[in-house]
Amino acid sequence: MCGIFARIANEPVAPALIEGLRRLEYRGYDSAGIATIEQGGIERRCAVGKVDALEAVVRSGPPAGTIGIAHTRWATHGSPSERNAHPHVAPGLAIAHNGIIENHRELRHALSDRGARFRSETDSEVIPWLMHQHMANGVSAKDAMHRVGEELHGAFAIAAISENEPNVLRAYRRGSPLAVGFGEGGGVLASDPQALAGYATEAMILEDGDSAEITRDGVTLFNRTGERVQRQTLAVDPSVFACEDNPYAHHMLREIHEQPDVIARILGQYRVPADVLAMVPVDFRRVSRITLVACGTSYYAAALARRWFQEFARVPAEVAIASEFRYEAFAPPLPGELAIVISQSGETADTIGAMEVMRARGIPVIALVNQIGSTIAREADGTIPLLAGPEIGVASTKAFSAQLTVLAMLALAAGQRRNQPGIGQFHARLQKLGDMVTAALHNEPAVIAVAERIHNAHSMIYVGRGSLFPVAMEGALKLKEISYIHAEGFAAGELKHGPIALVDPQTPIIALVASGSLFEKSASNIREIAARNGRIILVGDRAALLSLSDVSTHSLTVPQGCDLLQPIVSTVPLQLLAYHVARLRGLDVDRPRNLAKSVTVE
Ligand code: M6R
Repeated sequence: MCGIFARIANEPVAPALIEGLRRLEYRGYDSAGIATIEQGGIERRCAVGKVDALEAVVRSGPPAGTIGIAHTRWATHGSPSERNAHPHVAPGLAIAHNGIIENHRELRHALSDRGARFRSETDSEVIPWLMHQHMANGVSAKDAMHRVGEELHGAFAIAAISENEPNVLRAYRRGSPLAVGFGEGGGVLASDPQALAGYATEAMILEDGDSAEITRDGVTLFNRTGERVQRQTLAVDPSVFACEDNPYAHHMLREIHEQPDVIARILGQYRVPADVLAMVPVDFRRVSRITLVACGTSYYAAALARRWFQEFARVPAEVAIASEFRYEAFAPPLPGELAIVISQSGETADTIGAMEVMRARGIPVIALVNQIGSTIAREADGTIPLLAGPEIGVASTKAFSAQLTVLAMLALAAGQRRNQPGIGQFHARLQKLGDMVTAALHNEPAVIAVAERIHNAHSMIYVGRGSLFPVAMEGALKLKEISYIHAEGFAAGELKHGPIALVDPQTPIIALVASGSLFEKSASNIREIAARNGRIILVGDRAALLSLSDVSTHSLTVPQGCDLLQPIVSTVPLQLLAYHVARLRGLDVDRPRNLAKSVTVE
């Protein structure tokens, strides 16, 4: 989604603004712009398309201002165009805005009646005009910012500069994330704390209703009533955007290969199942039902974990897509209900909405979140950090395996608390996960060979049974989002009820199998595909692949594990396959079209 970056320094800030926007590119956008104050006046540069296009515009007439705001826009109100690109201006003011202003129509009419002249189709343009009118009536910039924050409906983060105070950056937050920092060279703010790297070592996270005043001397935060406040700080990882140190061609590939380290970090931090329980105020002996809620890849992690909570903890569990769940009609909650929300970014609007619904119903919510300091992490009743480290590629990979590893620990912890047998044995098996993922990664040359054969396909089908069904759906999502090949994941047993009509020799079918109780059932489904001339690529352990070698055109081997480990390990070749198919198609793997890393609108 949109990104904000702003800087005040002792030297021209345009290069830092461009660099800041590059760091936010992974969030997804379709136009970009900057505004600075130069010789007392606002200077604005905008371009449609990538930051490269904006950089070219800036290079042809570099602004010399030492204070500025910058923005990447993901179009919601009005098409991607220079006119609609941020920053937006009113006389003497420029602002950059993330989020949605729900009452912008009413405000636009009222402001127009009072003389505002709008140039864009965006909801955001009401902000500088509101500020301008307050300031024209003698209100200070700081108070004008707070008044505007109160007048707007929706979720938003705003950065503003004003000719009236050319040495102050202002920011306001409600609903959309915003972090500020200060270092030797001056002050900085961004919608993603990691984008402060190199400018500040710590990020202060604004809370809803807070504003920030950033000068060359420091940062001051004010709460909604205008009093000075201190807020939570996060360490900023200085290496996260250091691409020159990245031996991999893309962030996504690096993140896929980081998975063994992420798993080791999680198992090192949460040594025994009780360690995850210590982070959340829940007594699993009293839990009667669990609802897991998430979106996209996080939803598939939830779908898998649902099975684990039932198997290991013997608690009824259900899973819901957050965007659907939040508008459902509900029966009255049962005593002992628990909600678990899962989110890499912690800022997904639909997941936040679902969490609010749960809390309004009096159901405690625990969250599994990668971005500490995010809205979900702060607002849940208890949060378990995923410890995956910053994930830059839009396609989620290491955050998925982190979610599954933490969820496995949580399900085992719940089982232990409920005195279920065999938990120690499963926990011991979990310790082997990192090595198994490493072994799966070693099979990358075989994955590349398959990718070379299938990267021109128009459509692909992924099938799996039991715990491999959510993996099939995740594999299909990974492929479609970065390669733009149509892909669907199906429960293998469901094919004969309809999807088998899609089987033809041109459509690669990625079939997930594992030795174990469901093997024979899966094998029958795969043979049904083979009987209809399906082009089968098997992903599974050696024994399972051997039994089906007569029907597969290719196979990708993964180590053999149990129901807890096999789905996590089987994900690895699917991530690599999606990556290499997209690479062979010459696509922008880390920044796929139309997508955003952090989906902060409904
Ligand atoms: O940050 P979240 O985990 O809440 O994000 C949920 C989805 O938007 C996300 O998983 C999305 O599906 C990814 N692009 C998948 O790779």
